[in-house]
Amino acid sequence: MEKTFLMVKPDGVQRNLIGEIVSRFEKKGFQLVGAKLMSISNELAEEHYGEHKERPFFGELVDFITSGPVFAMVWQGDNVIASARQMMGKTNPKDAAPGTIRGDFGLIVSKNVIHGSDSPASAEREIGLFFKENELVDYSKLV
Ligand code: CMP
Repeated sequence: MEKTFLMVKPDGVQRNLIGEIVSRFEKKGFQLVGAKLMSISNELAEEHYGEHKERPFFGELVDFITSGPVFAMVWQGDNVIASARQMMGKTNPKDAAPGTIRGDFGLIVSKNVIHGSDSPASAEREIGLFFKENELVDYSKLV
């Protein structure tokens, strides 16, 4: 079953959007297999956003993601990586369509409410960075 890593960013947590965001993915039909409210260390932030290291906004990005609690999640389901990206909307909330999470709740690119893995390789990498294997549940034995 395909899995992806999603994270409500500090702005989304502070604006009480965790429930709204979880609800959207539940109603779509995806299954939550792991979740935790946590603070991100500088080290984890730099590793998670490593591909942006050379960007001028890297420092701002690390400062922001470590500025308050985040809600880290793993979701599973058919085509969940691409589908979650569609449900999140474009990275810059200015370009995100109404009906998407960033279109409905975001205003600026640096505080865009949610992060989601953009490919199977990043999903695997990001899930491994944030979760141990025994923190993910298994629904396959449900009777
Ligand atoms: P995210 O999907 O978490 O991945 C990288 C993040 O960098 C992105 O969401 C944005 O929040 C952030 N970002 C992209 N462009 C800029 C920018 N110009 N200034 C600040 N942050 C940015």
